[in-house]
Amino acid sequence: MTPAATTIFPVILPVSEADQRLSGRDKVKALSRLARSALMKSCEKSGLHLDSFPKNQKGVPLPVGGVHWSLTHKSDMVGGVAAALPVGMDLETIRPVSDALLAKVASEDEWKLVGGNRRNNFFRFWTAKEAVLKAVGKGMVGLSHCRVVAVVDDAHMTLTYDGTRWPVAHYWFGDHVAALAARHFSASWTRY
Ligand SMILES: CC(C)(COP(=O)(O)OP(=O)(O)OC[C@H]1O[C@@H](n2cnc3c(N)ncnc32)[C@H](O)[C@@H]1OP(=O)(O)O)[C@@H](O)C(=O)NCCC(=O)NCCS
Repeated sequence: MTPAATTIFPVILPVSEADQRLSGRDKVKALSRLARSALMKSCEKSGLHLDSFPKNQKGVPLPVGGVHWSLTHKSDMVGGVAAALPVGMDLETIRPVSDALLAKVASEDEWKLVGGNRRNNFFRFWTAKEAVLKAVGKGMVGLSHCRVVAVVDDAHMTLTYDGTRWPVAHYWFGDHVAALAARHFSASWTRY
């Protein structure tokens, strides 16, 4: 029997105008701090507890007491998620992209799964792959091992990483899209 899917509660927070005006290290620090606030809200919603945010030497978040976590920060929005299983989250602002990036994100076989305009679909693929690569702790160095194998609808697709299947859920708002990856889950998104 298939086990019931875990509900995961990703949280998205807006960056204040004052923080958006920061630059350099001050901005990185402010966004990192705000993403951790989103993570704590995700903990509250899911009844999970995190009191530290350790990372390994490569900057990969480490689970604490069985609680896995993932962060994403862009200049105007941040996201955070905690879960009792490996999890990855990514967030992007939809914007024009170069032909080189279109070719980098997906193969011809993967593009055939969506049809339509590649520029419109680019950020679905990009955020889905980033979310899976964060869940497996690889970051972009693992990009060539990650493939889109099924597109269910606008909000759901399946990827593989070295042959292991990773469902991904998308959440669209304004000119942004967020993606969440875990092995077996349903997503309950909150945006403040
Ligand atoms: C390292 C990487 C995970 C960062 O992704 P990103 O989109 O630049 O950054 P995000 O804001 O979404 O995520 C940053 C968070 O990811 C986490 N992270 C960093 N490396 C990670 C890894 N290897 N695995 C999992 N999570 C990782 C950290 O918690 C970090 O936040 P923190 O520094 O505040 O702790 C990686 O995938 C990367 O280098 N991406 C390149 C992005 C790129 O080329 N974008 C162009 C898009 S058009």
